[in-house]
Amino acid sequence: MILSEVQVPREDPAWRTLALDDLTLTRKEGFATFAEAPDFPRPPDMTRSGLKALSPEAKAEHDLWRRRFLANLRPIKTAQASQLVADLTDILQAGLDQPNWEAKGMAAVDAFPGLGKTTVGLSFAKRVHNDLIREHGRFTAAGHERWPVIRVGMMGDTTVKDFNWAMLEFFAHSGRNSGTANSFLSRALDCALSCESRLLLVDDLQFLRFRSIRGTELANQFKTIANEFPLMILFIGHGLKDKGLYDDPQLERRVTPLDLDPFTIDDEAGRTQWRSFLLSLEQRLVLADKHPGMLADDLSDHLYARCNGHIGSLMTLIKRACLRAIRTGEERLTLELMTTIKLDRAAQDQQARWEALLAGGKNTSKPKRSARRRA
Ligand SMILES: Nc1ncnc2c1ncn2[C@@H]1O[C@H](COP(=O)(O)OP(=O)(O)O)[C@@H](O)[C@H]1O
Ligand SMILES: [Mg+2]
Repeated sequence: MILSEVQVPREDPAWRTLALDDLTLTRKEGFATFAEAPDFPRPPDMTRSGLKALSPEAKAEHDLWRRRFLANLRPIKTAQASQLVADLTDILQAGLDQPNWEAKGMAAVDAFPGLGKTTVGLSFAKRVHNDLIREHGRFTAAGHERWPVIRVGMMGDTTVKDFNWAMLEFFAHSGRNSGTANSFLSRALDCALSCESRLLLVDDLQFLRFRSIRGTELANQFKTIANEFPLMILFIGHGLKDKGLYDDPQLERRVTPLDLDPFTIDDEAGRTQWRSFLLSLEQRLVLADKHPGMLADDLSDHLYARCNGHIGSLMTLIKRACLRAIRTGEERLTLELMTTIKLDRAAQDQQARWEALLAGGKNTSKPKRSARRRA
């Protein structure tokens, strides 16, 4: 495509909502904005000569658009994420039509940082929000606003009262400024009941020390919420088992543990998933000189060694590399360019080991079929 001028779509609703830096998920309005935002508009794909023909102002607009697009990439459907969402859907749906007094499901996604837990949790919550509003309307039969999802992010040293306050804060409840932990909880229960909430998402649960007095209080409170509130609780965090989430026999019986694995290349199925992820990712990139197979064929081993299968490190690497390719005008990702991009410490620590394995021919990141096709 050759365009002489490019103008970013500043009036596009997705541009306007997602460009808001202060979009916060701690309040229901922020969550609804996030959940209902349309996909961020993709900048036009341009050829190298198309780019050259742009005025400096238009080139700057195009680059800004590409930067924003890269920052707002829709999550890519990985096999791991799809499996997790399927499990979460089973647990949620099993509770949806039960009477309110029957205890609903609890699930805990426990995995290392950077594997996409928050991303998957939020995209599941987004779907629950939109599905239930579509099915039952924006208002309940009693005329209250429907809020299918409550989201609470934990911070260091969260007490029972802080947690209850956070639920009220999500609803911007006027009674969140004074009261006891118990009165906060009963106000939150009123909100959840009248707004017909069906999912409570508790992110970063690792901040909670279950093996402390506060931890026990909070564990007891989660049981109360599971018993009294008409909703599924989804905990997200890492090291939850080691931190004592399952020490309580009742929680151990009630919570379904789920995980989110890194990409692995130990078997053909894993390599095929890795490749199909890279193929999806390269389609998303807006670079004038990219080619099919740029990531999946030419950079597969390098990318695996760099990120050791961790999606968070990989996305950081790719985004930084794209920004550099845009700035320098290289407009494609090459091995030379990739090696100049710095990455997190954990990924760096593992890189040499993976490079040795891959270079020694002991291992490959590519499935046989694609290796054959290229040969
Ligand atoms: N399915 C996905 N598609 C694209 N990017 C992803 C995906 N999952 C995670 N990421 C990216 O990886 C990074 C880490 O993900 P995050 O959900 O914050 O991990 P966690 O909560 O497990 O620490 C984020 O920048 C996110 O955008
Ligand atoms: Mg997270």
